[in-house]
Amino acid sequence: MKYRLLSPGPTPVPERVLTAMANPIWHHRTPAFEATFQKCREGLAWLFQTKQEVLTLSCSGTGAFEACYQSLLSPGDTVITVNGGKYGERWGKMAQAFGMSAVVVDCPWGEAISVAAVEQALAAHPNAKAVVVCASETSTGVRHPYEAIAKLVAARPKCLMMVDAITALGVWDISPERDGIDVLVTGSQKALMLPPGLAFVTLSDKAWAMADESKNQRYYFDLKKERKNQKLNQTSYTPAVSLVEGLHEALRMMQEEGLERMFARHARLAAATRKGVQAIGLELFAKAPADSVTSVLQPAGIKPDAVYKGLMNRANVTIAGGQDAVKGKIFRIAHLGYYDELDIITVLAATEIILRQEGYTSFTPGAGVGAASEVLAAGFVNHKSDARAAAVVQG
Ligand SMILES: Cc1ncc(COP(=O)(O)O)c(C=O)c1O
Repeated sequence: MKYRLLSPGPTPVPERVLTAMANPIWHHRTPAFEATFQKCREGLAWLFQTKQEVLTLSCSGTGAFEACYQSLLSPGDTVITVNGGKYGERWGKMAQAFGMSAVVVDCPWGEAISVAAVEQALAAHPNAKAVVVCASETSTGVRHPYEAIAKLVAARPKCLMMVDAITALGVWDISPERDGIDVLVTGSQKALMLPPGLAFVTLSDKAWAMADESKNQRYYFDLKKERKNQKLNQTSYTPAVSLVEGLHEALRMMQEEGLERMFARHARLAAATRKGVQAIGLELFAKAPADSVTSVLQPAGIKPDAVYKGLMNRANVTIAGGQDAVKGKIFRIAHLGYYDELDIITVLAATEIILRQEGYTSFTPGAGVGAASEVLAAGFVNHKSDARAAAVVQG
């Protein structure tokens, strides 16, 4: 069977991007590379909706987060982290690894963090240097209220609002300046439609000022040094040149679609997936679902991980299962990046078949697909008659 990837990272890479990455390798200290890198810098500023520099790092998202801790904070600093899933938990552990003190605000998996709980933590730790929140906690499928938390942090001149937007940037409308985000991190293998290997960071003026005071150890990841070099269309060390070629093409594709239509597509695919699984009689795991990934509780009475494993082993569809406390109990269908309406129809149809094979039969075959297709119909438009698409095609 055809291989289909619907995991929340890595996500599928469009043919155009794959082809661009198959080009001969440019040497990075050449005008040709610099011209491409400049276009990427411009495209990233557009995608991130920022006037600040967006730095491109050759690492995964975790590496970019480490770069921020290393370049902005100091040993002994207090960092408030929101822990409602695997990634929120990671940022607390990472702070401790750098000799910082992590104040962890817990919330049950599947729920969004209470803003009041973060406010209390800030009141109890007025010297905190950062609040770290996942915009989209991929392990649970929850969207946390980072905008409301940012308002609390904005009033504190020595505290940074750090947002893990690794599965949020490109999915919905995020603007660091408008939303009060001081540190925004994302990775290539998510909505940016690239393979793993690049990560992106943008910082506010407040964060750059903190960089002047930071005493954490660093060498390879030095954001001040990167900014100086990247403004000249260079990187401090050898970049992942093929991925930069791919990034250039992926940004062109995103610009052809336009931000508004891109966000609307993600919202539509997410709404359709949620409606579809609910029409099969399943329950959403996330109480405040993000538009990047839909997490679903497996029905009672079937084997742990039956849907995730059934899809992988019998339909050649890779989605994601649950982790830690919800291992075997939930499955997660991604719809961030290079996905369209028919991908959602396909994964819902396959899920229905697997569920029936596993003995869960209390739904009418096609119920999920039918419910989803009502939402997805809005995406069936005549793209050829669209003025913006036509302009792009004609160059
Ligand atoms: C919300 C979130 N944060 C952090 C990470 C870690 O990123 P990476 O695996 O690129 O290091 C991921 C990866 O899935 C993620 O989804």
